[in-house]
Parts: sequence; structure tokens; C-alpha cells
Amino acid sequence: MKHLLKMLDLSKEEITDILNLADQLKYELKHGIPHPHLKGKSLGMIFQKASTRTRVSFETGMYQLGGYPLFLSASELQIGRGEPVQDTARVLSRYIDGIMIRTFDQKEVEDLAEYGNIPIINGLTDFSHPCQVLADLMTIREFKGSFDGLKMCYIGDGNNMANSLIVGGLKVGMSVAAATPVDYRPAKEVMDFAQGFDCFTITNDPRVAAKDADVLLTDVWASMGQEGEAEERRKAFVGYQINDDIMALAKSDALVMHCLPAHREEEITSKVFEEHANEIFEEAENRLHAQKAVMVKLMG
Ligand code: CP
Ligand code: NVA
Repeated sequence: MKHLLKMLDLSKEEITDILNLADQLKYELKHGIPHPHLKGKSLGMIFQKASTRTRVSFETGMYQLGGYPLFLSASELQIGRGEPVQDTARVLSRYIDGIMIRTFDQKEVEDLAEYGNIPIINGLTDFSHPCQVLADLMTIREFKGSFDGLKMCYIGDGNNMANSLIVGGLKVGMSVAAATPVDYRPAKEVMDFAQGFDCFTITNDPRVAAKDADVLLTDVWASMGQEGEAEERRKAFVGYQINDDIMALAKSDALVMHCLPAHREEEITSKVFEEHANEIFEEAENRLHAQKAVMVKLMG
């Protein structure tokens, strides 16, 4: 594994290795055991979009690993004035040991990987959010013990989270059901991958997806960059909400997770959100541990 660009690139073994290391790093942190695997290394973090969790967890995680994180706002880099990503990649490769990038177009991340010669980590694109989904899988395994026999349900927009959860869930052996409006299906390459699995369901009906689910996930109806479509999307997504009626169809011990930020009373009711705050905020914490594992694997 040279980069973390999207879930489609990872094998089941690579995912399991990352999750095992993440569990170990979480244990070490909680028990005050130092783990300076990246002493003397630096990570550039390029942000073209807002972030709370990704920024703070990468920055703190790099510090805990003994390395140095550099926050690079795209608007202050020459990339924000049009310097090609291919040149940025070749320059940064000569100064630092890895790049985390959050941007719009997946191609920009793939180009960084192609032109640079240091590990590239996708910190969210319109297509994919692999760091989040590794943390999500870590959380599911932590609460449920294993992925065996579990059904994952995703309700909402066929966006970066849906794309990554479907692929990640199927790769680790869960059955996956996703409910999205027909006009907001996951990306074609994700659908092509998923259709190869008998245990994958795509439907317009959130109730079908939620039936007997062990874990239910959702995400905002309008992602970063889609603010102008918010009104239209609010109409299109009516009914695509995790609420008590949906929870009544899932298993009684089902987990509810959300990558955050959440829009209460849109994709999830405040009631369900607060009843499942325990797993939702453990999931947020696990960003730190999962990403530290990714950095150690790629840059250690
Ligand atoms: N879930 C997530 O990526 O959060 P941020 O946008 O705050 O980084
Ligand atoms: N789908 C959301 C995820 C935020 C973490 C977005 O792209 O804005």
C-alpha cells in the first residue's frame, strides 16, 4: 500500500491490518505508552474545504506519532492561484514525507499520487472519504466484536460517504443495503463493484434497507460544494431519514453512526442522534486512531 486514495484500492487484508494497528495505537494512547513511529517526519495537510475532525485528528495524530503536521490552506498556497497539482506534488515531495489532501475532484488526489513520490492520503473528495470509513469500520468492529453476519444499512445521498461505506462494508464481509433516491445513486464505479456481491442491495425504500440492520448510517443531504442545491435536495430527500420508524425495523441492538457534521431533523432526528451519541462520538474519536494507523503504514 503506497497511498490511501479510495476504498476501492484496498484489499480486505490491508483494511484488517489498518484496523488492528488502529486498535493497538488506541490502546497505547489510553495507557500512556509512547508510540513515536514518525519521529522526524512531516505531513502536509492541504484543505480546499472546511474541516473540524479531519484537520484536528490528523494534526494531533501526527504530533502523537512524533512527527510534524503542516496545515496548508489551499487558498494560501499557489495551488489556489492555479499552480498545477502536478508541480505542487513534485515540489512538496522534496520537503515533506506525506500529504493529506481534502478537495473536490478525485482526479486531483490521483494526480498528486502519480506525480509526487511521497504517500498521498485522501482526506475527502466528492467521490470518496476513506479515512472516515476506516474509522467507521473500526467502530463497528469495536462495538460488535466482528463483521461476521452483520448487515450495514445506509440511507440518504449516494455521495462520498455512501461510495466509501458500500465498498468498505462489502470488502470486510458485511451485507450492505443502501437506500437513495433514484437520481442520487452512488457513483457508477461503486455500483459496478457492488453489483458483483449477492449481499448488496440498492433500493429507493429506506424501510427495505433498514430491515434487520445491525448498523445504520447516514450523511448530510447536501455535501460541501453543493450548498446551492440545498433547497432542491431538501425536497428530493424527504423520507430518507433515520428516525424511530426506521429504527423499529432494524435489530433492537443496532448501532447508529454518522460521520458528522449532522443536520438534525433532516437525515437524522435529534432523538435518534442523542440515543446513539455513544457510538457516534466514539466513531469521531476513532478518526484519530485509524488515521494514525494509516500514517504509520504509509510513512513509517
Ligand atoms: N467527518 C469529517 O470528515 O468531518 P470534518 O469535515 O469536520 O473533517
Ligand atoms: N458528504 C459530506 C461529508 C462530510 C464529512 C461532505 O462531503 O460534505
